[in-house]
Amino acid sequence: MISFYLNGKYHEISHLNPNTTVLEYLRLHEHQTDTKEGCGSGDCGACTIMAQRLPSHVMSDSSDSTPFYTFNSCIALLSLMDGHHLMTASYLADNPAHHPERALLHPAQQAMVDCHGSQCGFCTPGFVMSLANLYENNRMQQQQNAKQGSTNGESSYDDPSYDDIVAAISGNLCRCTGYRPIIEAGLTMGKIGQQRVADKTVAKDLTISLATDAMASNSDALLKTASLDTSNKASTIEPALAEGSRQLFIPKTVDALNQLLAVYPQATIWAGGTDLGLSITQHLVDHEVIIQLSAIDELKTWSLSHSKSSSKHDSKANAKLLSELDNSTDNEEEVQELTFGAGMTYQQMLPILEQNYPEFAALFARTASPQIRNMGTLGGNIANASPIGDLPPILLALEARIHLRHCNPNNRDMGGEEANAKDENNEHNQKPYIDEIIPLSEFFIDYKKTKLLAGSYIVAIHMPLMQANQHLFIHKISKRYEDDISACLVAVRIDLSADGMTIDHAKIGLGGMAAIPLLAKNCQQALLGQPLELASFEKAAKALPMDVSPLTDVRASREYRLHVVQRLLIKCGKQLIKETQTERESS
Ligand SMILES: Cc1cc2nc3c(=O)[nH]c(=O)nc-3n(C[C@H](O)[C@H](O)[C@H](O)COP(=O)(O)OP(=O)(O)OC[C@H]3O[C@@H](n4cnc5c(N)ncnc54)[C@H](O)[C@@H]3O)c2cc1C
Ligand code: FES
Ligand code: FES
Repeated sequence: MISFYLNGKYHEISHLNPNTTVLEYLRLHEHQTDTKEGCGSGDCGACTIMAQRLPSHVMSDSSDSTPFYTFNSCIALLSLMDGHHLMTASYLADNPAHHPERALLHPAQQAMVDCHGSQCGFCTPGFVMSLANLYENNRMQQQQNAKQGSTNGESSYDDPSYDDIVAAISGNLCRCTGYRPIIEAGLTMGKIGQQRVADKTVAKDLTISLATDAMASNSDALLKTASLDTSNKASTIEPALAEGSRQLFIPKTVDALNQLLAVYPQATIWAGGTDLGLSITQHLVDHEVIIQLSAIDELKTWSLSHSKSSSKHDSKANAKLLSELDNSTDNEEEVQELTFGAGMTYQQMLPILEQNYPEFAALFARTASPQIRNMGTLGGNIANASPIGDLPPILLALEARIHLRHCNPNNRDMGGEEANAKDENNEHNQKPYIDEIIPLSEFFIDYKKTKLLAGSYIVAIHMPLMQANQHLFIHKISKRYEDDISACLVAVRIDLSADGMTIDHAKIGLGGMAAIPLLAKNCQQALLGQPLELASFEKAAKALPMDVSPLTDVRASREYRLHVVQRLLIKCGKQLIKETQTERESS
């Protein structure tokens, strides 16, 4: 059984085709047509809705509300909403029962009306959800600040910045109104909220109070959410959803996942579904057995390994860990690598990347849209093995390692001893699965072919921390600035000698240039031991055709790809020279 709230109302479902998307459920099962279907592939944002993870599923012990987030309901499985509250545009308006004279629109809705942000109206519910999400999270943050005494105790409704608004609506397309009035609505909604507080026109919490009241009254039911009980034996594991021969499982621990994959090695592993959702909506695939990873908090943790110890942290502990990290500059050699659970979404990884790999974090503004980044995961991006995935070339340049787990009993004889021996926690060396940690560069074998076998999954990614002599540059080429897949992507990591004059080590990750993401070994070789000057990069760029022979496709021609990547390599050289000059001048 899955359980969730939809617009404040509790739902439990156990008999349903597991391939049912949220949008299909809303429109065809609930006849709730305020959410629109445009592209059906996550690109247009017409189907955007808001959700909030409910307390019984929250990783932290904090009583603070979890943030709202938006997602594309067209490609999200309904089962991903297990333990969540879903909100659609019609829920945002204040309950007319409280204001019989008129239904009071949410400030984001009222602002769209006031600023003429809608013409045909097809895109409007999606834009409203993206703006309302920004508004509500902003307000939640301010309420938390007020609680902590950093304001006067009264929550205020400050306007988000122009940039915040543009980022919030970057996954929504409008074909007729144009964006100026919509951005204006974003800039206006805060004032509407402020006016209401001043007028005491309406209870302060338009959406949250209704949601939390409903949640509170049903919290017991939520706790009973019928995800997998870890004490179950594999033979007695119950699917959360089933219809005919189709089944969907929602394990809550890696142990349960291991058991399930041993029994169902051919099952489809479902993380955020931002790639897989399209298999349903575009290719009409009806997945027979699905194992959903979203409830396994262990796959959403990250850890910082010091040379002496390694400890695990959930996302709520990030602030503490990050401050430890800040202090660690006194003792650089203690810090080794960051480990990210494969189930971490882009959004969950962002604050950690911002602290440690700012160039990597900056790319996220150009990776997909907020709706996709809230759902899509690190493991999904790597396992999908798309030659144009954004993360693999960067992880290759960082010399990341990948932790794989093979649960299919038929794969027991594949190098398991060595792999299992690496695992310190394996007391009896009798694990019913095989672990291996390999360089990411060995993971991709051929187009969409990887080291993953039936019944295998990615546990985590290990990323060495950047050292003082290392420099990272990332360039993505796509037709649209936001929410567009790369035509090509270049990630260059250069390690300089102690005097900063020579290139000691170079790693150049490429995406969109071959059937798999790969390292440009000839270009790298050409840079080794070379002086830090532009000519070194010009020479290295000439070696590119020895590394790759790209294709011509709808995104770019072969010639363009080669030319642009060569120019980008030289650009990285220019950036590096400038960066080191600035460092020298300021020291
Ligand atoms: C509109 C849109 C825009 C996009 N833009 C970008 C972009 O700019 N850059 C980019 O790189 N990608 C982009 N994507 C692709 C996608 O969002 C990413 O690849 C995302 O990281 C996939 O993660 P997921 O959790 O949604 O994967 P899913 O769809 O759940 O799974 C993808 C594949 O990975 C497998 N899988 C997932 N997790 C694991 C695991 N832990 N172990 C083993 N196998 C696993 C699944 O079985 C499946 O084969 C875009 C997608 C859409 C729809
Ligand atoms: S309908 Fe276009 S993103 Fe969902
Ligand atoms: S109002 Fe028509 S598409 Fe946006």
